[in-house]
Amino acid sequence: MNFPILPRAASRVAEQTDELYWGLIILSVVICVIVFVPIIYFIFKYREGKPADRRPLKLPQNTIEMTWTLIPTLIMMCYYVWGAKQYFVVERPPSGAMEVNVVGKQWMWKIQHPEGNREIDELHVPAGRLVKLVMTSQDVIHSFFLPEFRIKQDVVPGKYTTEWFKADRLGTYHLFCSEYCGTSHSGMVGRVVVMSPADYENWLIRGQPGSSLVQSGERLYRELGCSGCHSGSSVVRSPPLEGLYNKPVPLMSGEVVAADEAYLRDSILFPARQIVGGYTNDMPSFQSRVSEEELLELIAYIKSVANAAPGLRNSLEGPK
Ligand code: CUA
Repeated sequence: MNFPILPRAASRVAEQTDELYWGLIILSVVICVIVFVPIIYFIFKYREGKPADRRPLKLPQNTIEMTWTLIPTLIMMCYYVWGAKQYFVVERPPSGAMEVNVVGKQWMWKIQHPEGNREIDELHVPAGRLVKLVMTSQDVIHSFFLPEFRIKQDVVPGKYTTEWFKADRLGTYHLFCSEYCGTSHSGMVGRVVVMSPADYENWLIRGQPGSSLVQSGERLYRELGCSGCHSGSSVVRSPPLEGLYNKPVPLMSGEVVAADEAYLRDSILFPARQIVGGYTNDMPSFQSRVSEEELLELIAYIKSVANAAPGLRNSLEGPK
């Protein structure tokens, strides 16, 4: 269906969302017709002065009530299931996605690729690849809206939100901030450039990043002195970081939390908040010392040692 009310759909998920949308429109139209056609018909038929039969009708009341309650309920339940399924598709990033970090600020989008490439208000992605955006804001709430992909997600200071898409068609697509965020909110726009995988590789190389996200994170890890404590040979007893990502962490409070991006971020900024069971907190807060981008680099590094064998201890310790 080519109807210019909607922007073109640039992914399969966008098409599915449109199908749901048109399904709801069609249902609404059908219900409107069922309700309004008889109303209009009766307005004329029983108009004052018209010689119509106005005697009470003998109708099977219960049957009528049951019918017009149950049938619409069943239809709406079908739509509920349809909508819920689509919601889960949109909200749950499939595994194996390429992760791109997004930091919103008044009034621009800062984007970091895992290879280290950075861009502003532009997001280059290869066609046919799952792309998962890990997003945060360094000031107020923004919202990362890709109309052609039918996805929109708030970008919130102090936490990570995600959204994902898989571009099926090459081309350039709109990127909007869709949460009023101050004077130049309307100027907080950009574009998504979907390239062929080969062009994307070339683009990555042309960008010539000095180092990948993980490498930048590793450098910060040393520069900030993280390695001084979080290494096997350290005198300070601190929780090891190898294999930490996405694993359950037992806290002193008895709680068990997952070591996801949000946990890692909070542990760097507010180390005293969630103390790992069996440890005391000797770590200072890095709140004023690292930017949102640097946090994402540090987290990328910690994620990269997620499955590190004991041998990788050395790379965590750094040069002596
Ligand atoms: Cu950022 Cu509106």
